[in-house]
Amino acid sequence: MPRVIAPSMLSADFGHLERDCRMVNRSAAGWFHLDVMDGIFVPNISFGFPVCQAIARVAQKPLDAHLMIIEPWTYVERFAKLGVQYLSFHYEACNLRQLRSTIRLVRSCGMGVGVAINPETPAEVLIPWLRQIDYVVVMGVHPGYSGQKYIPETTEKVGVLAEMIAAQGADCFIQVDGGVSTANIAELERLGAGVFVAGSAAFSSANPLAAIRALKTAK
Ligand code: DX5
Ligand code: ZN
Repeated sequence: MPRVIAPSMLSADFGHLERDCRMVNRSAAGWFHLDVMDGIFVPNISFGFPVCQAIARVAQKPLDAHLMIIEPWTYVERFAKLGVQYLSFHYEACNLRQLRSTIRLVRSCGMGVGVAINPETPAEVLIPWLRQIDYVVVMGVHPGYSGQKYIPETTEKVGVLAEMIAAQGADCFIQVDGGVSTANIAELERLGAGVFVAGSAAFSSANPLAAIRALKTAK
């Protein structure tokens, strides 16, 4: 797949949210990434439906919601109604029965379904699920905050996952979320990742359009 950059709107300026959404529309980014946190699954609270809706009104590219919340199944239908096209939730937030039923629920709502794994969760836990999901989210940081340092072991994990996906002939892509920059994006892509979330790498720059372009083209 061609490299997709998904700017994390958590790093946008909420005082100028519409401006930042329009910037993403004009940019080389492929998707909008929406980080939803509940203060329970992760030690931070980000934003919920009103903010997602405000973004949805302006966004002209697919919305990718990343639920860092407990009981993610509770809110799946509401995200679908907002126009979200890709929805990921955490492996660590579910038991196996809940994982199975939430994957089915996201699919039945017409969205692409992703399962996210935290840095301490081994890639192998996803072996039974790769043929049932559209993407894996490999966290490059501990979820909860943008602007953290990339955890280097993530790189090897992406390679392992890509091999597991190929071995099963699964139709599943890899998204890397957290700590992505022009310094690591090309190697992660070479190992098999296709979608790259960028919070601080996109928005901390004085010129976010150029920063997103740099992520899209970094070799
Ligand atoms: C982390 C979020 C990420 C994060 C990315 O909890 O899921 O999407 O905001 O931010 P950076 O790119 O700054 O690590
Ligand atoms: Zn995220």
